Amino acid sequence: MKRLLITNIKELLQVERTPRARVLGADMAHIDTVKNAYLLVEGDRIAAFGSMEQLASLQADEVVDASGRMVLPTFCDSHTHMVYAGSREIEYIDKIRGLSYEQIAERGGGILNSAMRLQQTSEEQLYEEAMLRLQQMMAFGTGAVEIKSGYGMTVEAELKMLRVIRRMRETSPLTIKATLLGAHGIPMEYRGRQEAFVDLVVNDMIPRAAGEGLADYVDVFCDRGFFTVEDTERMLEVGAKYGLRAKIHANEIARSGGIQVAVRYNALSCDHLEYTGPDEIAALKGAETMPTVLPGAAFFLGMPCAPVRDMMDAGLGVALASDYNPGSSPSGNMQLILSFASVNYRMLPEEAINATTLNSGYAMGVSHELGSIAVGKRANFFITIPMPSYEYLPYAYGENKVQTVFIGGQRVVG
Ligand code: NIG
Ligand code: FE
Repeated sequence: MKRLLITNIKELLQVERTPRARVLGADMAHIDTVKNAYLLVEGDRIAAFGSMEQLASLQADEVVDASGRMVLPTFCDSHTHMVYAGSREIEYIDKIRGLSYEQIAERGGGILNSAMRLQQTSEEQLYEEAMLRLQQMMAFGTGAVEIKSGYGMTVEAELKMLRVIRRMRETSPLTIKATLLGAHGIPMEYRGRQEAFVDLVVNDMIPRAAGEGLADYVDVFCDRGFFTVEDTERMLEVGAKYGLRAKIHANEIARSGGIQVAVRYNALSCDHLEYTGPDEIAALKGAETMPTVLPGAAFFLGMPCAPVRDMMDAGLGVALASDYNPGSSPSGNMQLILSFASVNYRMLPEEAINATTLNSGYAMGVSHELGSIAVGKRANFFITIPMPSYEYLPYAYGENKVQTVFIGGQRVVG
C-alpha cells in the first residue's frame, strides 16, 4: 500500500480524535488543530497525524513538504445543480434592470429556460460541460459534491440528468451524491393544475429514478409560487417509500412551512432558509435535519441573509454550500462561500470551516467518511499556498488559496 507523508505542516486543521457526525451550536466556534504537524496516508485512508516531534520515521513512498502552509480536509459541497446546459447571463442583466427572480420565473425564464436548454442538449455534452465544472471545483478545494436533477421537467429529461450524474460518479475521483429534484419548477403546460405534475413526480419520476438506482435523495422546491407543503408531503412520502431521504429547498422566498415539513419527514437537510423565524428554529431543535445556508445565492440575488447566528445560539448546527447553478449562484467556489459567510453572516472562521466540511458532509450523508482529518477517514485534503494564519482563508477573498489537492490519497491538483 502506498504511503504518503505530508511534513512540516504549519497548521493541520479540523482534526478529530473522536469523529463526530456533525457539530452543533456553540461547538461550531471551535476547531481542533495541530501546529507544525505531519499527516500520514496509507492507500486512500488517513493513517496517522500529529506534531512533527512525534513523527518516528520519514519512511514513505512520497514525502511532501508543506512548510508555511495549512492543510484542511476538502470541502463538502452538499447542495449544487452543477449539471446544466448553457448559462443565463442575459436574465442576470434583466435582474440588474430590476426584474425579480419570481418575475423572471413567471414569464417562463429561470428554471424553465434552463429546462428547455437541457432537453435539447445531449447526455454526452452535459457530461463534458459538468466535468469541466467539477474539475474547477476540485481546484478550489472541493472533495465531495451533491448534485441535483431538476432542469429536466419531463421523466425522460430528469432520468437523463441523473444518468449524467451517475457517469460523473463513475469517472471522477470525487464523492458524488445524486438527488432527484423532480419538483423544481412548474412546467408551463401544468400551470393551474400543478397537482397533475406532482402526480407525475410521485407515479413516474420517483419510482423510475429509485428503481434504476439513480438517486440517493429526493428534493422539492417548497416555497411560495412553487410547490406547497401538501405537494411536498406527497412527494416526500413516496420518496421515503422508495428509500430516498429528503433534502429540500425551503423558505428562500417566504416562510412557506418548508422547514417544518422537512423536520416532520426527517429530511437530511433543509436548504436556503432566508425566511426563518423563531418557530422554524424551534422546529429544528433536536431534529436530525441540518439547516443549510447558501450564501452564494443570497449574494447573487440580493436576498436577506438567513439568521445563522440565531440558529447557532439556539444550539443548531449550520452547513454551508455553493448552490452552484446557472440562475442564482453561477459559482462552485467554496472558498468564496467561506468569505461570504464571514462578511455577510458574521460567521467566525472556525464556524465557517465547520459549516463547509463536517456539517456540509453530514448534510450529504458522508460525514462518517469525509469532512475532517481523522484516522480511517478517506484521505481527501488540500494544501494551501503559504499563509500567515488560517484566518487568512476567509479574509483574502477572491484568489485561489488552494495549491495541491489530494483525493483518496492521490494528487489530483497541483
Ligand atoms: O437553489 N431555488 C431553487 N433552485 C435553485 C435555482 C435554480 C435556477 O435558478 O436555475 C436554487 O437557487
Ligand atoms: Fe438549490
